[in-house]
Amino acid sequence: ELKQLKSFRVLVPLCGKSVDLAYLAKHDAVSDVVGVDGIQKAMDTFINEHPYLYKNYADNSDGSDGDDGSNLKVTAQPCGKRHQFLKYKGKNISMLKGDFFDLDQDAILSNNNDAPDANNEGEIQLLFDVVWDRASLVAIHPDKREEYVQVLSKMMNPGGIVILVALDKRSGTEEAKAYGPPFSLPEEEIRRLFQHQDWVDSIEKLEEHDESVTFPEKFQRWKDMGLTNMFEMLFVIQTKGST
Ligand SMILES: C[S@@+](CC[C@H](N)C(=O)[O-])C[C@H]1O[C@@H](n2cnc3c(N)ncnc32)[C@H](O)[C@@H]1O
Repeated sequence: ELKQLKSFRVLVPLCGKSVDLAYLAKHDAVSDVVGVDGIQKAMDTFINEHPYLYKNYADNSDGSDGDDGSNLKVTAQPCGKRHQFLKYKGKNISMLKGDFFDLDQDAILSNNNDAPDANNEGEIQLLFDVVWDRASLVAIHPDKREEYVQVLSKMMNPGGIVILVALDKRSGTEEAKAYGPPFSLPEEEIRRLFQHQDWVDSIEKLEEHDESVTFPEKFQRWKDMGLTNMFEMLFVIQTKGST
């Protein structure tokens, strides 16, 4: 899926210190990746674990060469309309520390240090072509899901896609199914959230597997809580318009 597109910007909401960020930053087809998380430790740990992405962006005035991640001092810049984010910039990667629900286009646009690309119609593409949502929407409280989708809607270029990995706690005790995070996010809830949005073109489930079968050892803690299965599902949500 990724290789079909040529040069695109990727947003990783609630990124934590995920290795997905580094995978995406190094991907040939990715021009720019932006991760958002509220926890300072996620920023610090990611930078320390991937120093090569930050080497030329760090303040090494103490004489360190930056090869050892523990020596890297990346200075954060405030961004967003209300300076509500701190931006840690590296090589085609930025991590924004702040509350995802405060994300505005200003925070994103100030991230684009490189010249923006123009599409076939000559329009400038400044926002995101891909949202990479793995363990993100499932991490927030169900009451906040509509708000989360609204934030996403303002962040996407026409013709972009949301790659969404969700969990469906399909059977077990009601208590175990309601427990979170991660919260259960069944297919019908994903369709309820996205299909009536005027910016969404299609929602497709590409695959699913039952974690109780695929990873029985990992699943044991859920089983102990009263779940009998838990499906991990991969969706691609296509937005309207063309890139
Ligand atoms: C389960 S982790 C997901 C990490 C990542 N997506 C991955 O695949 O490893 C959830 C993350 O969401 C972050 N988070 C939760 N609510 C947030 C919010 N409102 N704004 C920013 N980050 C938030 C937490 O700090 C945590 O790092």
